[in-house]
Amino acid sequence: MSEHDAETLAGMIEAMGYERTNESEKADLVVLHTCCVREKAESKVLTRIGILKRLKEKNSSFILAVGGCMTQQKSVAKYIKQSFKGVDIIFGTHNIHRFPELLEEVKHRRHAVLEVWDEPDGVRETLPVARSDKTKAYVNIIYGCNNFCTYCIVPYVRGRERSRSVESISEEVKGLLDQGYKDVMLLGQNVNSYGKTLEDRPDFSDLLTHLDTLGDYRLRYMTSHPRDFSGRLIESIANSNNVCEQFHLPLQSGSNNIIKKMHRGYTKESYLEMVDKIYQEFTEPVLTTDIIVGFPGETDEDFEDTLDVVRKARYDLAYTFLYSPREGTPAATMDDQVPQEVKMERFNRLLALQNQISLEKNQAMVGKEYEVLVEGTSKTSDKILTGRTRGGKVINFAGEPSDVRQLRMVEVVGARTWSLQGKIRQGE
Ligand code: 5AD
Ligand code: SF4
Repeated sequence: MSEHDAETLAGMIEAMGYERTNESEKADLVVLHTCCVREKAESKVLTRIGILKRLKEKNSSFILAVGGCMTQQKSVAKYIKQSFKGVDIIFGTHNIHRFPELLEEVKHRRHAVLEVWDEPDGVRETLPVARSDKTKAYVNIIYGCNNFCTYCIVPYVRGRERSRSVESISEEVKGLLDQGYKDVMLLGQNVNSYGKTLEDRPDFSDLLTHLDTLGDYRLRYMTSHPRDFSGRLIESIANSNNVCEQFHLPLQSGSNNIIKKMHRGYTKESYLEMVDKIYQEFTEPVLTTDIIVGFPGETDEDFEDTLDVVRKARYDLAYTFLYSPREGTPAATMDDQVPQEVKMERFNRLLALQNQISLEKNQAMVGKEYEVLVEGTSKTSDKILTGRTRGGKVINFAGEPSDVRQLRMVEVVGARTWSLQGKIRQGE
């Protein structure tokens, strides 16, 4: 979502006449679009601000802006303003559309501005977007989150759930297909809550079923909540042509104890039942997840439950995180914070297990043929292509630059933990 917000910012900035550069030394304006989901993301931004503000010494008209989730927290916005005199614009998540005005104000009045809104003013539909890819596109369907998982800062910085209408999403997707986009990723903190704020209350299955009729393309979504991932939704996906067999279902923890303390609303058993249903319904689904290690109070036994689910669900990929206390969330002040060395030891065990499973699942693909959407050429040679299977697996293979943005049948000939090597079918 942050990445897509950055595309919107880029769209607005380009519409003002700015051009993109990959070298910050040449830039008249740098916007840091920030994340605050874990502490590490925040500390990276502070380091970058420290480096970037030095560009003012060489270019007196250089403007540095910081926005997004991190600065949506008023205390952080204030801290940045006080501690880093070189920052010209500080904005949040709800007023991103105001960026052009804030920029004009700084340019003409030459004083710093801080503007962070407490709440969004509805859903904005008309902002320009400078998409960073020509094959894959992001489309927002729902903003905000009402779940308040106890470790998570997102509901505090992204506000309450609000959905875009089916019509406006449909128009955007049609426009993308007309422009030649082949892969559309629907975005929301919890896509399964889609439609609850709309008058005729369409749900996520209804939206997918509608979007499925718009053309021949790949349709994905992120992120779905395991609590709300219903049998009906699994059926709609199975009955569709375009919705890909890729399931990102954040587990966070496999222990009922911890799942409850996290306020997630499912159990280890109900989660595994859902996974079973997916494996029954699809021949080769790709399953991925997010896991937090070391949530307050997590015991060895709790952690063993997480490993148990990992073994049973056999994820293709897991994004694993050390629990990071976020100020203002309930978990940050819970007793029994897990010591860092214990977190690290568990994290490494989880990683070793998951890497083994990822490799085994990739190895099981060797010798089979898959439909691959070619996304680009490698950095080193335009005869080495990179693409993805419908399940979202990355595959590299030899081909021609003219294959880019096309679908090709590719045989898997080699497997690594994170990627596959392939060979394009002759005559393709
Ligand atoms: N500490 C560690 N990981 C977190 N995530 C969210 N909040 C925290 C936190 N406080 C992880 C979750 C979520 C992913 C986007 O980030 O696993 O699914
Ligand atoms: Fe955070 Fe939970 Fe909402 Fe996901 S569902 S954004 S983890 S509060």
